[in-house]
Amino acid sequence: MNDQQVFAHLLKVIDEYCTGQRDGQFLDYHSPAGLRGILGLEQPGKPGDWQEIFAWVEKYLAYSVKTNHPMFVNRMWVGANLPAIVGEIITAITNASACTFESAPVSTLMEKYMFQEMLDLVGFKDGEGQMTTGSSNANMIAMMAARNFADRPIKSSGLFGRRRLFAFVGADAHYSMDRAANILGIGLNQLIKVSVDQQGAMLTTELERAINRAVQGGGLPFFVAATAGTTVRGGYDRIDALLPLRDTYGFWLHVDGAWGGSAVLSGSLRQQYLQGLEDADSFTWDFHKMLGSTLMCNILLINKRRQALATALSAGDGSYLFRSENTAEIEDLGPASLQCGRRVDSLKWFLDWKFYGREGLAARVEKSLELCVYAEEIVNRSVELELVVPRTSFNLCFRFKVPEEESNAFNLALRTRLYEEGTTLVGVAYIKGKLVMRLLVLNPAAERADLDMFFRNLIAKGRELRQEA
Ligand SMILES: Cc1ncc(COP(=O)(O)O)c(C=O)c1O
Repeated sequence: MNDQQVFAHLLKVIDEYCTGQRDGQFLDYHSPAGLRGILGLEQPGKPGDWQEIFAWVEKYLAYSVKTNHPMFVNRMWVGANLPAIVGEIITAITNASACTFESAPVSTLMEKYMFQEMLDLVGFKDGEGQMTTGSSNANMIAMMAARNFADRPIKSSGLFGRRRLFAFVGADAHYSMDRAANILGIGLNQLIKVSVDQQGAMLTTELERAINRAVQGGGLPFFVAATAGTTVRGGYDRIDALLPLRDTYGFWLHVDGAWGGSAVLSGSLRQQYLQGLEDADSFTWDFHKMLGSTLMCNILLINKRRQALATALSAGDGSYLFRSENTAEIEDLGPASLQCGRRVDSLKWFLDWKFYGREGLAARVEKSLELCVYAEEIVNRSVELELVVPRTSFNLCFRFKVPEEESNAFNLALRTRLYEEGTTLVGVAYIKGKLVMRLLVLNPAAERADLDMFFRNLIAKGRELRQEA
């Protein structure tokens, strides 16, 4: 095959795969050992043989999870948007690193354009942005900027001999906060997990108590992260209730909107879930989750500071790479980044933004919430299912009702059976020791009928397992 034939064949394969995404089962399941046998990864390569390459591609597709299938309701992402897929392909073809304008001129301008669009949308004034490799890293970078801002000599001296730093998050915050505290030298003991209320929101009275304890012990409370849409329950910390504390104690208030930050697109949902966001110090938000850009597509926004990221991050001699002589005209993105090579994530994001617009994406978020409410109604009506915690936003945490002592094992077995039979893949998590199924409905093509089918299958399999027991 010559290059043109390769491209033509590739497009045919892509087209066939995408057309069949909603059909059949979401997965042709095989155990790891079984799949290893089918794939035959040890087969020697045939250098230069395109038939062989496409045979691998076919195998990859045949046994992959169809993330666009309506019964894939497991994760915070699903099959990607077509404009983003176009962007991915072009990104691969051009294969540039978005660290400097000279090597990635268009993507640098697109990324900066998108920062401004997002800063305006969120309401951050005189701020800056950075695309990162996901919210885990964005959370860490925000914590790092806050750390260096709270105690500037740390950048040179390290934490040696400095005041002990304390960070605070809600008890349901994402594990990336723990990792950030570990990586940044804060230490897990200084990452204080504040208890949450019935809705999963951080109790501000508890937070204030914890801050005071840290101060009385000689510590410096430097960082509080509010979560906008917690991973398991979908709880929202009340940003507006945290702002007065920030003003009193002077910490950096970060908002982790990896999952639920997308509510910012919708006027009504922003009002409901994100009051006060425009006054936070930083905000991270994933376009690859609820909004369907391809993985990874994240932004970290900083409020009212223009050089916080470069100040916190830049170190060492990058003069072989960054053209600081040009800064009057355009600043490279690399110096404000954790990485050296930077994948171009801006193109797919830009294309999605132009294709759907704010209104289109807001409608998608609102639909996701409506479907979650519909699913909640189904669970409430069913005698066989129960909610484990009240729904607050986009996540529904429920389980099949069986005696409490059997519940975790039974629900895990039910979920596993549904997965292995290729029927559906729904998330599981634990809330106070209780195993829950976490349903997230973010497929833009999903309809009520898909949810009817999801619950019909789940209840039928649950009954079958009860009979087997
Ligand atoms: C609330 C929250 N924050 C951060 C993350 C991490 O995001 P990423 O996968 O982009 O690193 C997640 C992922 O599920 C999340 O739910």
